[in-house]
Order: sequence, then structure tokens, then C-alpha cells
Amino acid sequence: MASFGFSATGTHVLRPNTTLSSSSDHVRNGSVFGKSIFIKKRKVGDLTISNVATKLPAVVPSPTREGSDEHSLAAWTSVRQERWEGELVVEGEIPLWLKGTYLRNGPGLWHIGEYDFRHLFDGYATLVRLHFENGRLVMGHRQIESEAYKAAKKNNKLCYREFSEAPKTDNFLAYMGDLANLFSGASLTDNANTGVVKLGDGRVVCLTETIKGSIIIDPITLDTLGKFQYSDSLGGLIHSAHPIVTDTEFLTLLPDLVNPGYLVVRMEPGTNERKVIGRVASVEVPLFVTFHFINAYEEKDEDGRVTAIIADCCEHNADTTILDKLRLQNLRSSTGKDVLPDARVGRFIIPFDGSPYGKLEAALDPEEHGKGMDMCSINPAYLGKKYRYTYACGAQRPCNFPNTLTKIDLDEKKAKNWHEEGAVPSEPLFVPRPGATTEDDGVVISMISSKNGEGYALVLDGSAFKEIARAKFPYGLPYGLHGCWVPKN
Ligand SMILES: [Fe+2]
Repeated sequence: MASFGFSATGTHVLRPNTTLSSSSDHVRNGSVFGKSIFIKKRKVGDLTISNVATKLPAVVPSPTREGSDEHSLAAWTSVRQERWEGELVVEGEIPLWLKGTYLRNGPGLWHIGEYDFRHLFDGYATLVRLHFENGRLVMGHRQIESEAYKAAKKNNKLCYREFSEAPKTDNFLAYMGDLANLFSGASLTDNANTGVVKLGDGRVVCLTETIKGSIIIDPITLDTLGKFQYSDSLGGLIHSAHPIVTDTEFLTLLPDLVNPGYLVVRMEPGTNERKVIGRVASVEVPLFVTFHFINAYEEKDEDGRVTAIIADCCEHNADTTILDKLRLQNLRSSTGKDVLPDARVGRFIIPFDGSPYGKLEAALDPEEHGKGMDMCSINPAYLGKKYRYTYACGAQRPCNFPNTLTKIDLDEKKAKNWHEEGAVPSEPLFVPRPGATTEDDGVVISMISSKNGEGYALVLDGSAFKEIARAKFPYGLPYGLHGCWVPKN
């Protein structure tokens, strides 16, 4: 297995309320993001360090809670404060073509008052924004103001059903009322803590598995703008939080309430109306467990006839214990222990010859990526097409959670891995270079929880899969889940 580690060779500190200047010809003075800034660049080893200083919002120390002392991983620790925004010191070089905003959503606040949530997926949504422009980077984060979040803050208790948490009922009548609210959907959460997508019309929507948890946000201010409400009559309470979204369409699955299976629905940009375009029929495949599909495409023979559908996913060897491993107590207490269940790139081969059976196999030897595999992305231009590369989180054992970034070459069946001791990287997002001619021509962005409660943004070259830039956060951020790229128009 190839391994690409990195050691910081210079300082990369945030200096709030200070101004850096220099008389060297590397200095550029100007106004970016509406702020006056001064930049000094210097070479350290083979990295260029850019120090950027702006007036930054205050960092408020958080009270110590279980698993949240300053030496623990911020990944599993409630976000330190409601919001923050500021320009970061960039170490290395961010390509000048990288212009836009990486948005990442995920659970980030795991307590209300003195009550601690138990599972990673329970936390209230924390939206993080990395805005890249002119080689500079502004980071911001903010809580999504769902009804569930606002009610919890106002009443200092859980008021809606989260992933594994339910409000306590005082008596039998209240219990029956809660059951009725469950079936009507009234008690379901709207805590949109799973993903964030940019629709073809520019609206940015945060999502979770409840339909009511579809919330429109402003990608610049991270303001919560309101609910995304469907104008169709398809109804339902739940949907997939992982739709396929391109500039021209939004596709997702809805449970079919009449027949076994799922409805495939499509929504045009500029509308809120989903239309049913088909339904899934199924074939029998070996047992599997997956959270995330990577890509799917039609396999064709020499004459161009479709012979099979290939569908790749992050597959947990049909073992459901991964869900239990994602309880916060497990994540916080098992650091360094080799308790992460094995996973692989599971490749489904669904034949087109009328056979009711499909195959499932590993797309490459899982040892290539340390038998850890989840949180994947691809070059979006290859969505639904035969593709070669995927980026994901893999493992360097021993570990209790995926702790590498891995670039999988599905043709060569090889992986390149990025790893830093003690760090937990979040989902790598591939951003293609405008005008790219090869599939891996671009960058990979991730946010890292590092040792001692710290964290930073990381940019890797998509081809060589080596670090080209990093920028330290004022404090580490929660792990997060899924993100999207909003190009600057
Ligand atoms: Fe997911």
C-alpha cells in the first residue's frame, strides 16, 4: 500500500486582530471578501506559507463536557460555538482556478443542557463553509436553525425524535399522544444534518431522511432561509438524504406505499415538483450493508449492447455492527484500538440477460485501503458513466474509525493513501479543474480533525494525491457528513 504522510514544517497559526506586512515583492495588499488584508508569502521547505490576517470573530471557550477536553478529537465533540467566520492562514498553494465554496453539513452539537446524545447521527446540524478565491480561504460555520434545534434551545430539552433519541414522555396519555405524532410525522425531526446539495437553479438545500427536514440555506451567510416544500402530491414522511443532483435534475427514491419497492422521482431545476419516472424492480444479490453508493453505469459489449449494470458502493461485509461502532461513547473511548469493522468497494453486477440474480464482489483487494471504506466522491462529470477513480476514507490500522484519505484506481486496482497520525479526515470532495482533460485533474478537499482538539482544511492534488495546501481552523470541528461544491459564478 502506498502511503503519503505529511509533517508540518512551519508555523500555521491564526493571528486574530493582527496585521502582517512585508516589504518583499511577495506582498499583495488588497480587498477581498470585503475586508482589507495583507498577505506575506514565504518558502518553508518545499511549501509556500501564506500568512493572511483579518479581524476575526472571537473564539469562545466551550465548557468541558464528556469527551470534549481540549486533547480529544474535535470530530466527536460538540462544536465550540454557534458560529464563526474568518480568513485562514494558508500553508502551501491553493490553485488560483479553485473559485467557489465547499459546503459541508453534518451533526455537530450532541448535547442539550446537561443531556448528552448517544449516537453520531443524532447531533444538531452544523454547516461548515470553505470559500476559495485567489488562493485564499475563508472558513465559516453555523448551526442550521431547524424547528428541532430552536425548540431544544428554547426549552433546554429534546423536543423531536432524532436518529436514536426520542423526547421523554411523562405518562401514558403523553406516550399515546407521542405515538400519534409519530405516525402523523409531527414528532419527527427536521434536523437537516445529513447532506447539502446545490440545485440546478442555485438554491442550496440541507437534507436528512425526513422530508420535513429539507431546509434552504444561504451559501454565503449560512443563514437558514426556510423550509424546502414540495409542491407535488406525492406526500410521504421520509426519503433518501442522498439524492443525485446535477445542474439539470434532482433524482431520488421514495418508498412505494402500495407495492414492495421504490418510486424513482425526478425534479426539474426551478420547480418544487417531483414527478414519478419509474420504479425499482429488483434482483437477488448476496447480503450486503452499505450507507453509500459510489457510482453506477451500464456495461456494454463490443457491439455497444448493454450487458449489465455495474453499481459500486462502500460495503461493510454484510456486517451491521458499524452502526453500533458509531455511538459517540465508542468513538471517544476506542481511539487507537483496532475495532473498525472491515469494509470494501462492493461491486454489484446486475445482468441484463433476464437472470434474477446479481453478483457482488470486491472491486479491488480491500488491503489496498486498509479494509476501511466509506464517505466517497467521484469526478461529477463521470456520474452514471464508466469511471476509473473514486476518493474515500480508508483505514490505516489499528484504528476505530476510517483515518486515511484514499484514492482508488478501479482500473489498476490500486490505492494511494494519505494519512496523518492521530487525525480523522472527513469525506473527500473532488473538484475538477475547469478544462480538465483527465478524470483525476482537479483537487480533493477534506476537513481534518487532528490531535489535541485541533483541525484544518486540507487540499490534495487529485492526480498525485499529495498535499498542496492546508489551513488551520481556530479550533477543531465536528466530523460532519456530506458536502457539495458551489462554484463562484
Ligand atoms: Fe450518508
